[in-house]
Amino acid sequence: MADTNPHYDPTFIAFLEEMWGTGYLSPGGPEEIQRLLDGISLAGKTVLDIGCGSGGITLSLARDYGAGRVIGIDVEEPVCATARQRVADAGLADRVEIRQVAPGSIPLPDGLLDIVFSKDSIVHIPDKESLAQDAFRLLAPGGWFVASDWLIAHDGEPSPEMADYIRREDLDFGMASPTRYCRALEAAGFVDIILSNRNRWYLGVAQQELARMQGVDRPRFEAVMGGEAVEEQIALWQAMLIVLESGEHCPHHFRGRKPA
Ligand SMILES: C[S@@+](CC[C@H](N)C(=O)[O-])C[C@H]1O[C@@H](n2cnc3c(N)ncnc32)[C@H](O)[C@@H]1O
Repeated sequence: MADTNPHYDPTFIAFLEEMWGTGYLSPGGPEEIQRLLDGISLAGKTVLDIGCGSGGITLSLARDYGAGRVIGIDVEEPVCATARQRVADAGLADRVEIRQVAPGSIPLPDGLLDIVFSKDSIVHIPDKESLAQDAFRLLAPGGWFVASDWLIAHDGEPSPEMADYIRREDLDFGMASPTRYCRALEAAGFVDIILSNRNRWYLGVAQQELARMQGVDRPRFEAVMGGEAVEEQIALWQAMLIVLESGEHCPHHFRGRKPA
């Protein structure tokens, strides 16, 4: 199932890990995972990580949060290979499994999971309604769907600034609004739904990230991907900051529980 043209190729993985830390292809590090999982125990639980990327967070769910079994799924081969190697190196292959899957319905049995988790990957899945239904199907009664994701503030046409930012990302983004996420979760049957806007937090972080690329850390980024590609990333971050400042780009945490 090797991808002929993966978005997250080894160079891009290396760039994102330089930005966000080994095994992290999204911002915030361990602190953001802790905030996301606040009040939800993973101890001994069976957990799915949708869009596991290069596996740092997937591993952490078992190693740091005591999940009994973690299944990390992703659609691209290079991230799955990297994550699998990390799992083996950490000696956690008996509890953490990485599976490459095709986009669409998740090939796992109904009611298998206690927790469906995802960090900044659902942005790549345009059909939020089907995903919410699938998460509900996969969860045992009482289980939580808990995720961080990159949202857009509304479901209308993106502003020219937002359209420019999305074009520069070139990552098949299928962004949706908090309202649409909430409705999709409700329609699937979830209760105790909470959405929390992380826009102001990421605005501050993204400003620091841009300063790193333009300043002292520039040689490190250039060593990973070359000067021209770093220039493109700087332009992307500048475009992203405009829509973070306006609030149109609004990363969120959300959670919902399948009734017991
Ligand atoms: C921004 S990365 C985040 C990875 C990881 N969760 C992290 O935070 O480090 C997004 C990931 O979602 C994956 N992805 C894209 N479409 C997907 C789909 N339909 N199902 C599962 N994963 C998908 C990408 O391949 C990529 O690894």
